[in-house]
Amino acid sequence: MTRQATAIAHPNIALVKYWGKRDRALNLPATSSLSVTLDRFHTRTTVTWGAAQDEIVLDGVEVEGHVAQRVLDFLDLVEPARPPCRVVSASNFPVAAGLASSSSAFSALALAATAAAGRSLEPAELSVLARRGSGSACRSLWGGFVHWTRGERDDGLDSHGQPVLLDEPWDLRVVVAVVHAGPKAVGSTEGMVRTRATSPVFPVFVAENEALVLAGRDALLGRDLETLVSCMERSTTLMHASMLTAVPSVRYLAPGSLAVLDAVDALRMSGVGCGWTMDAGPNVKVLCRAVDAERVRDALALHIEQVLVLGIGGPARLVEAL
Ligand code: DP6
Repeated sequence: MTRQATAIAHPNIALVKYWGKRDRALNLPATSSLSVTLDRFHTRTTVTWGAAQDEIVLDGVEVEGHVAQRVLDFLDLVEPARPPCRVVSASNFPVAAGLASSSSAFSALALAATAAAGRSLEPAELSVLARRGSGSACRSLWGGFVHWTRGERDDGLDSHGQPVLLDEPWDLRVVVAVVHAGPKAVGSTEGMVRTRATSPVFPVFVAENEALVLAGRDALLGRDLETLVSCMERSTTLMHASMLTAVPSVRYLAPGSLAVLDAVDALRMSGVGCGWTMDAGPNVKVLCRAVDAERVRDALALHIEQVLVLGIGGPARLVEAL
């Protein structure tokens, strides 16, 4: 019997970072992390469970090799004795450029594949499954702010996202300076493995990050933007310091990234509440209040051609299941 399901998921940006795995096969993180889900950007994925043959189409192109294999391996996790499947997925933003495309991709795939397979999972179980595809995907099942707890178990069943529930929505914006939209030179997985194995700074990142997650979560609950951005910048700085001190060095920042950081620091000195973060790519994301977003955008636009203002997104959702 052929069944089909379509899901949409938004990417998320880490406010306090996930970097380094305590178990590579299960994508178990070295530390907990904290994220915000973005609006407007999304991945839309349709899974046909019971096709003529396995077929993976990403952004309109049929893919093969390791990219297709990563998707097929994920489908095997949903059901080891599965029938051939067709997966058609497209994102409306640049993939593999540090804009968290794997977070929306595997979150949408987890939701669509389980629905197409006729399975219904609890949110935490679905998050554990999405994590197996890409760690950050376990946070994209929820909208708003999400806390991914590291967990202690070897099987990873306690390592999943959970929403940080605020009394009322907090109208923040993420202003993205697109320094460079091309694919990154070193993928996150390889960058993490190398950093953990060789960087003398990595243990410092791990030692501090857990406390930053808790302080960041409290700052969210207390709507304390100043503390939140200080946790975000500290986690970002320690993560990039650990990347830079890996052997060979993992370097994602570009000269344009540093110019944007200086511009954000200057804005903050002038009294605008804001702070920066960067992931496995040169793009800079700036967190600020909605009322300040235009001012932040204009300041960044002096340095970078493409500046996008994004709001806070909702949860991953099924849009069709036949
Ligand atoms: C820098 O989730 O893409 O964006 O688990 O190997 O697929 P894999 O890595 P991925 O890494 C995201 C790293 C980060 C920080 C973060 O999102 O927390």
